[in-house]
Amino acid sequence: MEMGIFYVGGSFYAWRNVCPHAAAPVCKGLINGTTLPKDVYEYEFGRENQILRCPWHGWEFDLVNGHHLAPDSNAKLRGFEVKVEDGQLYVMMS
Ligand code: FES
Repeated sequence: MEMGIFYVGGSFYAWRNVCPHAAAPVCKGLINGTTLPKDVYEYEFGRENQILRCPWHGWEFDLVNGHHLAPDSNAKLRGFEVKVEDGQLYVMMS
């Protein structure tokens, strides 16, 4: 089983390396921001370095909570609890 460990906003997050869309190795995707919800014909880019884009079809996922960013989508990355103790990083696999 593969996972990606990401450092976002001062915290670590561990996500399984399987996209919920079609099982791509999602953790090999680009980390970037996204276009924020705005009025029609208005565009604003934000959330820099908080979004993971799947390398196969471009679905975007929030690296903090794993949610797919599309409206009304219930897709979500599967993740694991991460703890940092005494300078060591632990991923809870249960
Ligand atoms: S497999 Fe990830 S978006 Fe399709």
